[in-house]
Parts: sequence; C-alpha cells; structure tokens
Amino acid sequence: MTGQAKAVTAEPLGLYVHVPFCATTCDFCAFYQTRPTAAAVKGFLECVAREASLVPWTRRVSTVFWGGGTPGLLAAADIERLAAAVRGRTGGDPLEWTVELAPGSVTQQRLAALRDAGVNRVSLGVQSFQPGMLDALGRRHSAGQARRAYDRIRAAGFPSVNLDLMFALPGQTAQSWADDMREAAALAPDHISTYCLTFEEDTALWVKLSQGRVRLDPRKEAGFYKSTWERLASAGYVQYEISNFARPGHACLHNLNTWRMGEWIGLGPSAASQHGGWRGANPADLGEWSRGIARGERMTEDRTELTPELLAEDSLIFGLRMNEGVDLAVLRRRFPGAPWREFEARIARLGGDGLVKISGSKVRLTERGRLLADAVGAELMITPAASAGPEARQTRAPP
Ligand SMILES: C[S@@+](CC[C@H](N)C(=O)[O-])C[C@H]1O[C@@H](n2cnc3c(N)ncnc32)[C@H](O)[C@@H]1O
Ligand code: SF4
Repeated sequence: MTGQAKAVTAEPLGLYVHVPFCATTCDFCAFYQTRPTAAAVKGFLECVAREASLVPWTRRVSTVFWGGGTPGLLAAADIERLAAAVRGRTGGDPLEWTVELAPGSVTQQRLAALRDAGVNRVSLGVQSFQPGMLDALGRRHSAGQARRAYDRIRAAGFPSVNLDLMFALPGQTAQSWADDMREAAALAPDHISTYCLTFEEDTALWVKLSQGRVRLDPRKEAGFYKSTWERLASAGYVQYEISNFARPGHACLHNLNTWRMGEWIGLGPSAASQHGGWRGANPADLGEWSRGIARGERMTEDRTELTPELLAEDSLIFGLRMNEGVDLAVLRRRFPGAPWREFEARIARLGGDGLVKISGSKVRLTERGRLLADAVGAELMITPAASAGPEARQTRAPP
C-alpha cells in the first residue's frame, strides 16, 4: 500500500482549515464558500487564530490540509498570516501540508508564499482538459490555464502534487474521459484523485437534473469507474482508495488518517472535527461561525459523542473503501465495546453476495463491491447516523 511508504506516527493528528472563498461558484459544488472581500478575509484570518486558541492541543500535528473553497485565492500576505496561525499550533513541522488550488489563481507569488510557509503538497482542481466538459461544470478556467498552473507548481518545487479530475459528467464519452486521464498522466503528477460527479442538492447541476435537462446513467458510471482503475494502473498509479491513486510514497496521509478514524481538528466555517471524544462541525456560514468563535464556542453542529460502536462502524465503512481493506482483529482490539457479532454477521452476508473477500481477519471489497461501495456502507450502518461524519471533511464527499 502506498500510504505505508511514509512514516505515519502511532497516533496521527490532522489539522484541517476550511478557507471559504471562491471567485465564482461551480455548477456542481456544494462546499461552503463565499466571495473574498477584504473585510471577510481579514475577519476569517482573525477568527481562525482565535479558534485555534480554543483548541486543547494535546499532541503534535502530523498533517495539515487547507481546503475549501479555494485557499489558493488568498493573497501572499494572507497566506503568511494563516500559516503563522497554523505553525504556532503544530508543535514542529508536519509530515504533510496540503493546500488546494484552482488553476485560475495559481501565481508564482502565491506559490512562493506557500513554499516558504512549509506547504509540501499541492492539490490542483483540474476536473477536465476538455473545453466542453469545463463548460458543462461551470468552471471558469481553461485547459491551457490548468497546464500552465501545473508547470508553475512544479517549477516552484513542491515535492507532491495531486490533480483532481471528475467523471460521469453530462455529455462525457468514454473516449473524452480516457483523453482526460491520458493528459493528466502525461503531466506526471504524484497523485490523481478521480471523482464521480455527485449531483449535490441546490447546485446548478442539481437544478438541471431535476428539470430533466441532464440525466443520471448508473450503467455508464460503472464503465467509467472500471476504465479509471485500469488506465491509471497501467499509467503507474496505485489505487489506494476508491477515488485515489498515487505513486509509491505519495498517498495523502491526511485523508488516510481520516479514513482510519484517527483524530483531526477542523478550523473555519463548515469544518468538521473528531477529537477529544467528540465529533462535530462548525456552522457553514462565515458570520455565524465568527460570532460563535467570539463567544468561545466551536464544533457546535451535529455534536456527537464518539462511542466504540460509531468508531467501529465508520472504521469498517471507510476502511473498506481503501484497497488495504480492514483487519477485524485490529479493529476489535481498538474498539472492544462495539457490537462485533452483528458486524461480523453482516460482513459474512456481504461475503456471500460476492461484495467482500474475507481471508482470516482481513476483509476487502471485491471489484463488484467497489462498484457498489455505497450499498456496502449502508449494510454496515447499525448505529443511528451521525451526520457530521468523517466525509464532511474529505477534500470532497465520497461518491
Ligand atoms: C473542495 S473542491 C476544492 C478545489 C478547488 N477549489 C477547485 O475547485 O479547484 C475539491 C474537489 O472536490 C471535487 N468535487 C467537488 N464537488 C464535487 C461533486 N459534486 N462531485 C464530484 N466531485 C466534486 C472536485 O474535483 C474538486 O476539485
Ligand atoms: S469546486 Fe472549488 S472553485 Fe468551484 S465552487 Fe467548489 S470550491 Fe469553489
């Protein structure tokens, strides 16, 4: 597994900062974001520093992830300010520090500020290299801008670069998706994330779907998934999770920690946290979040106690989405109080249906299981749902 190539400490701790600013809203996106006025950015930076002062920092931070929104929209001076707020809390250099960038805002000045701050991984939202697809997604950048942004990121010397691509888009053919993967692999990034388009409620694409102007095609989706797995493998990328592929040593440690049900601290509006026995999220509204922080309150939405049942269930659901799968013996030791007889009965049923492969205490999805991963997850849900689940803080929700 590529994730094991880098040292992961015994108890990793992630730090996620949600930077809620975008120049425009893409037609598919439901991540919380707003327009970056000077006053809004200033208030955000002050409140992040204040929120960080409310956190009980009990150990060293192993990974940092600035997501959004578009953290790369911040001016160089603001990047420095945010980095100072983060560095004061990490207790040393994190193993991995990722920042999400959109192609339209990648400048040498911003990249230099990020490098100086200690960022060592960049995630670039390319989505597609086809003008028609970028148009269908309401993206404001061109394929040329994405290529130039990538070249600048490489020239700036970041040791690990990810490209985000999306598939199963309205009007996309198998050939145009194959062309996108070929173009992405030709750039030789260290990591590629491939996301199946989700029609998120209240986005422009969701409205089109509900008006019948675009259609869902689950059979086509399965074909896209399979071709992704085959093509990226033959281009030298090892799949380590349903949507994620990496060259050896370049799996995203921050996301691995989340999927393995480690602990992470989320700062900023809409950021989810899981630490100190609790899971919860910040309000997805800059004003409401700021007012809460001014009162000394964080993690106020969907606050849920982390019980062994909940952690075991999520370890199974998210663990199975990874190619390494789960080791039931290890999970039993971590969460002895969870209802293991019930989980094991359900896993045996999934095995009987050909969705998981069981060898000893290890369980992995079969290819069919990987295509039906949401259904497998639903089968393993036995605790009342906790809505601020770990997916609230991935770079995006799993398909
Ligand atoms: C939070 S976005 C931030 C990246 C950056 N703002 C950008 O757009 O370039 C992270 C990634 O999530 C993926 N994403 C967001 N919404 C999605 C959706 N509805 N379906 C599939 N993928 C989605 C996109 O690939 C995007 O690059
Ligand atoms: S996809 Fe990225 S740039 Fe587009 S609205 Fe979402 S966060 Fe902003």
